Amino acid sequence: MEKTRVILDPAYKIAQVDPRIFGGFLEHMGRAVYEGVYDPQSSHADENGFRQDVLGALRRLRLTAIRYPGGNFASGYHWMDGIGPKNQRPTVRELAWQSIETNQFGTDEYIKMARMMDWTPMITVNLGTGTPEEACNWVEYCNSPVGTRFANLRAKNGSEAPYGVKLWCLGNEMDGLWQLGHVPADQYAILAQQAAKLMKDTDPSIETVACGSCTIKMPTYMDWDRTVLEYIGDLADYVSLHRYVGNRTGDTADYLAVTNSIDQQIEEMDAVCRYVQARLRSKKRPYLCFDEWNVWYRTMNPEHTNGRGKFAPHLIEEEYNLEDALVVAGFLNSFIRHADVVKIANLAQIVNVIAPVHTRGDELLLHTIYYPFVMYAARRDGVALQPVVKGPVYTSRSYGDVNTVDASAILGDGVLHVFLVNRSLGEVAPVTIDLAGAPLASLSSAELVTGAKAQDRNTYEQPGNVRSQPFNAVSVQNGEAGVELPPLSIAALSFKIAMP
Ligand code: AHR
Repeated sequence: MEKTRVILDPAYKIAQVDPRIFGGFLEHMGRAVYEGVYDPQSSHADENGFRQDVLGALRRLRLTAIRYPGGNFASGYHWMDGIGPKNQRPTVRELAWQSIETNQFGTDEYIKMARMMDWTPMITVNLGTGTPEEACNWVEYCNSPVGTRFANLRAKNGSEAPYGVKLWCLGNEMDGLWQLGHVPADQYAILAQQAAKLMKDTDPSIETVACGSCTIKMPTYMDWDRTVLEYIGDLADYVSLHRYVGNRTGDTADYLAVTNSIDQQIEEMDAVCRYVQARLRSKKRPYLCFDEWNVWYRTMNPEHTNGRGKFAPHLIEEEYNLEDALVVAGFLNSFIRHADVVKIANLAQIVNVIAPVHTRGDELLLHTIYYPFVMYAARRDGVALQPVVKGPVYTSRSYGDVNTVDASAILGDGVLHVFLVNRSLGEVAPVTIDLAGAPLASLSSAELVTGAKAQDRNTYEQPGNVRSQPFNAVSVQNGEAGVELPPLSIAALSFKIAMP
């Protein structure tokens, strides 16, 4: 294959990478909470019932903001069901996923886990069947000093000190007809404005995320976002984007080109935010919160989405392969390339439900998508640089022309991190990397994920089929790096640099 040149310049900074783009999502759905992070029956459970093997695996992901408790679940959830003595919490019907919710895990358990894991809490309030007042009471429960009703309740439940939850989502996917309590944009805008006002009156330091379009396929795409943002105005700090992708036609090359469309989605949403800011003549603009993203297509049918009245049913337990890992790396490349506007992103989800980590009884399995996330998260600190990629391009059926090698880069303190994805199905991609004005001195670490076939995946029987491994085909000479990227591979490279 013809050579690809990745040209970087410390002067072409995009923005500091917000660590919150390495967030996750924990929904009360299927086996994400129960049999996932919380399983008092497991031999891996600690005294809180938290599964230490699962949390150990999640720790390596260095997750930051963890969105909770949903998702669609949030639109039917009444947070007071999930607090207080466990034997007094109600078991209720859960309508979004047609399951049973026992409420044995709730706000206090989530905060305790978040603290153990160093996660930034991020709560989705119920604007489906809930009210702005209920949402504001939840803020008081979490954030107000003792002395008033809901803060006193928190103290009674074990924590005199406020939890200090800064990030609050104003409902979930309210544009979707499937959402409990779905309403048209103008009605959601009123509800979200009322909730944001009450919530910020309760704690002015919080940040809010307004529901944006939940897919680019919605007939209301962009109109919904404009209507909502114009009405909420400065009370919205972020607007949400969601995206689930998949290889529905069995065309790997086309599937891997989906990054073009992720870039486009981000840029379109950014355009709405800038438009609204201009229309409102506001000093403030909402930033982007990509609070659900992942590969999800094999398990999107009712067989996998309907819990049939069970507790902790197996729902959307997607099993990932090598090509999915490349797409996950593509999402992360896109977020890094848009570090100026994407400030939060949440991998949906983290355990069992469309997740990198699965459990079976007391066993644990790491799926392919686990590895790129670990490789990127380990190198997340610094400023995103604008990569110029010159090299072979291919024409995809759905997304037009794409570079065969997808790239992003982060400049840290005396170190340059470069992330490369070779989308060629059969050819090694020779790549050179140069950083203008700052010669690369040496390679400090390099990891690779690859495999023989796009469909290669990990199983309980063969858990190591696709995983990260040290990568040797990297050389540094005359300040430039040379890389031989195997077909269907993801590389994360860190170089020491000699700044002038
Ligand atoms: O992550 C699974 C579901 O996908 C979420 O509950 C919902 O918000 C989205 O449609």
